[in-house]
This record gives sequence, structure tokens and C-alpha cells, in this order.
Amino acid sequence: MSNTTVSVPDLGGADNVDIIEISVAVGDSVELEQDLLVLETDKASMEIPSPVMGKVVEILVSVGDKVSEGDNIMVVDVAASDDAEPSKAEPEQEPAAKASPAAEAKVDPDASSAASASEMELTIPDLGGASDVDVIELSVEPGVSVAAEDSLLVLETDKASMDVPAPADGTLVEFRIKVGDKVNEGDVYAVMKTAASSDAAESSAKSGASAQAESAPSAVAESSAAESPTTVAPAPEKSAATAPATPESANRSSDVYAGPSSRRLARQLGVDLTKVSGTGVRGRITKDDIRGYVKKMLKQAESGTIGAASGAGIPPIPEVDFSQFGDIELQPMSKIKKLTAANMQRNWLNVPHVTQFDEADITDLDAFRKQMKPEAEKRGVKITPLPFLIKAAAQALKLEPSFNVSLHADGEHMVHKHYVHIGIAVDTPAGLMVPVIRDADKKGIWELAQESAELVEKARAGKLKPNEMKGACFTISSLGAMGGTGFTPIVNAPEVAIMGVSKAQMKPVWNGSEFEPRNMLPLAVSYDHRAINGADCGRFFTTLVALISDIRRLVL
Ligand code: COA
Repeated sequence: MSNTTVSVPDLGGADNVDIIEISVAVGDSVELEQDLLVLETDKASMEIPSPVMGKVVEILVSVGDKVSEGDNIMVVDVAASDDAEPSKAEPEQEPAAKASPAAEAKVDPDASSAASASEMELTIPDLGGASDVDVIELSVEPGVSVAAEDSLLVLETDKASMDVPAPADGTLVEFRIKVGDKVNEGDVYAVMKTAASSDAAESSAKSGASAQAESAPSAVAESSAAESPTTVAPAPEKSAATAPATPESANRSSDVYAGPSSRRLARQLGVDLTKVSGTGVRGRITKDDIRGYVKKMLKQAESGTIGAASGAGIPPIPEVDFSQFGDIELQPMSKIKKLTAANMQRNWLNVPHVTQFDEADITDLDAFRKQMKPEAEKRGVKITPLPFLIKAAAQALKLEPSFNVSLHADGEHMVHKHYVHIGIAVDTPAGLMVPVIRDADKKGIWELAQESAELVEKARAGKLKPNEMKGACFTISSLGAMGGTGFTPIVNAPEVAIMGVSKAQMKPVWNGSEFEPRNMLPLAVSYDHRAINGADCGRFFTTLVALISDIRRLVL
């Protein structure tokens, strides 16, 4: 055991600084430079990195305590770490710190020149020795009015983040940098038009800067390792109080109160900090708040209740003990049934469905089909309406290409397909399966009858290969052999449409002078309204019904 007492480094002249977060617990192993605690002056927050590697034995301070340079904060057992470097434990090896007006909205009259009568170029202030600092956020849009002290952009080193405030009231004309750029002290980052003349603006900027310097010198802690400087982030009250009151700014992550390491963690996890409630001092968002938020979201996603509070989700179906109503038996669901359930829910929730209905007159088709039955027998295939429907759907997709699409995952493009593969929903003992007939537009009725029969057999025998169930442009789900006058099938995303086929029936149809008995096939087409609009469906469906009603057109 080799205990080292870690003390507060030089705070750049600040005294009695609040401890607002203790980032480790007794028993934790800490790395060199790992944050131990977070201090906050009235203008800035600062993470205190560990000068040694080891195990935390004792924490000598609590959140809410006030500390000054040299105060002992923690005891770390450096022997507890294999790679401990005892020399680093020496107090004189602690990270050096220096005072700097780094976080100030410093407008150096020499550096900030008047770009025109009322415009001024804004330059990056003193960064406490840090160089090539990342621009992580531009906090306002050009053209927006800002008040002195409004945060204009957020910079971040690998240890700290810093808001750069406006030096004066005015309008931001343009940024000369973008998110992702690296900046250094003195770089021109924006042009701002001040309310008054350039002189007045300059003097107001100067007085603004000096007023800040007087009222609250910002501490800039800098680690001894030059490559990991620690700069500062201003106190939240300041940014909250002065943030431009535009709707765009209301949800900016730069407006939330969080330290650099919390921001970094949020970025790694893809968490929007504006959605996280801070439990730290004065509502500061801690790393634990972010982890808690992620855990809560995962739980809600698993239980299907995500977004319920905002009305975006669905409430869970309550669990019911059915045995209270009578005898029951629990049977495990097949893998396919479970997959189908998940896919149906995914498609139902993701795809805004519209279903359109029509009837096709299959009197001639059915007469022809029956006529072909002896030949079908000779060929060893069964001829049902299905191959005709596949052929008609393939042809309709060729004629109405607006239906042969998928939405691109980027949400910015439509994928137009130059192939026509048709899926057929097959009821199997294991559950619903959808084998795919490739290039259905290029195949004849016999070939389609043969291939669909083979695929149906394979599906029912559980012998379909994964690639035989992929790539459909459109699916046909036929319940015609079973009955029913209509149903609304669920789109099998990423396909954008599906046709439900119900049982054909003889119906009296008005031919202009009398009612005629015709064999009418009820059809329903459900489509993804994000990709297809009603007029597209109207055209596609009319074409499809015309092809089914007059199969001579299929050979055209
Ligand atoms: N109207 C009237 N009769 C029909 C018909 C229709 N729309 N569709 C088929 N038939 C007849 C056939 O002609 C056949 O009669 P026949 O032997 O006198 O010629 C009989 O019904 C049985 O047909 P079937 O063997 O089922 O073949 P099919 O080609 O019509 O269907 C499948 C094949 C794979 C589509 C079907 O068996 C199936 O599994 N459907 C279920 C699809 C499903 O579950 N979808 C999910 C809904 S959400």
C-alpha cells in the first residue's frame, strides 16, 4: 500500500471554489488524467484530473464543499495499480494550472478589427495554452440577433469545453468556421454587426471584456501533459440567462449544463443532452444522468413503452393470467412465428399504411385456367389463379414504375428498382413465410406456376434458403382458397406495397343493359404512404385490375 494524497492544483487565482461533482468512488481504479472531481466558479467549471494511477482509498471532500489550491481531496493507493508511476504522486508533479482569462469573451481591440463601419471580426480568445481546439457547436444562426454574453460557439479540448460568448449586442453576420474545424487563439471565427458604430461597438466590447475580467476571472487548469489541456466551461446560469431566445436555440445542447466529459460521453452514446435531466448541483448533467437516461430508454424500448409519455409510443398490453378464466395450455412459439410477430409490429408501426380495394373480373381468366387444367396435369403442375396474379403484378410494376421502389435508409432518396421480384405469402405449419420469385416479369404462366409450387412446397417443408426469401419488390398474400371478402395486408417493408387476394365469387354485374353473372375477385392493395401517394396507387391498381380482367394483355 502506497497512499498518495491528491490536492487541488492551482486554480488560476480562484478561491473557495465549489465542488459540484465527485466523479469517482472509493474502491475505483483511476487512470492517470482521469477526472476525479468537478469544480465550479461562478464563471466556469473545471474537471480535476488524477495526477496518479491507482485505487481511490478515501475521498476527503463532498459535493458542496468549497476548496482552494492545495486542499487535500483524495487519497489514492498508487501501489494498487500495476503500472503506477510513484514519481507522478509527488505533489510537484501534479498538473500545473494557470490563471487565464480564457473563457472570457475577450475582444482584443488589436485582434478584433472593424470589418466595416459597424461590423467587427471576432477572434478566438486565449485558450489557456491549448491549440488546435475543436469547434463542436455553432450556437446561433447567421442573421440572428445576439446579446453580449450569448454563447456563439462551443469549443472542446479532450478535457474541457468552453462557450465563446458574444462580446457585444448585435447581429451575427457570418461564421468563418464550421463545426469540426480546429481553432487557435486569435483566429477570426465570425463577423458581427453591432448595434452602434464600430467605435462604439469596440468600446462596448472592450468594456464588456473588462467587466467580465473584473467580476469573474476564469480559471484554466492545464495538465502537465501539453496534449491534454484542461480549459473551462462557463457556469450554466450565464448561458441560460443570455442564450438568444430563438426557438432554434431552445434545444441546443450547448445550452444545457454539462461538463466536457459528460458531453463527450453523450456524443459517444448518441444521447441528446437536451433530453437528459441533470441531478448534479444546480441541475448539472452528470455522467450518471446520461447512463441512467440510456438505461431508461433501453428499458422502454424493450417493453415497447418508449415515447408513451409524449404520445409517440404505444402503451403495453397488460399481462393477464388467463388461467383465472378456465383451463389453458402454454405452447412455445416457433422461431418463425416470433420473427413474424416482430416483423409485423415493426412494419405496422413504421409504415403509414393506406389500403385501397377493387375487384377484378376473372370470369375469362378462370375459364381459361380451367381449360388449361388437363395440360397442367400433364406438366405435373397445379394451375390456380396465383401464377396469373404474379404475372399481372409483375407487368403492372413494369408499367407503373412508381410502385417498384423502396425508401432509402438515409430518408433522402428513393430506390427505383430495375428488376421485378415478387414475394408470395405462404401459410406453413411453422408460420408465415414469404419466398420470392425472381424476375417474375420475364417468366411465363407455366414457369410461374411451377416455381411458385416448388417454393410453397419448400416453405412448408422448412427448406427455404434465406436468399429465397429476400429481395421482393411486391408481395401477394392470397387467402382466396380460404374465403373472405377482403382484408388489409401489412406491407412487408422495405417493400412499399402488398396485394391481398380474397375469394372470388359469382356476382351480378351491370353490363350496361342487364346484370350479368361474373366471377369477381376481391383485391386489396396496402401501400406505404411515405413512398406512394393515392394517385400512384390508383394508376397501379387500375392497371393491375385491367391486366387480371383481360389476361390477353399479359402477353402484350
Ligand atoms: N378465389 C377462389 N378460389 C381460389 C382463389 C381465389 N382467390 N385462390 C385459389 N383458389 C382456389 C384454387 O383455384 C384451388 O382450387 P382448385 O383446386 O379447384 O383450382 C384452391 O383454391 C386451393 O388453392 P391453393 O392450393 O391454396 O393454391 P393457391 O395458389 O391459391 O395458394 C398459397 C397458394 C401459398 C398462396 C396459399 O396456399 C397460402 O398459403 N395462402 C396463405 C397466405 C397467407 O397466409 N397470407 C397471410 C395473410 S395476412
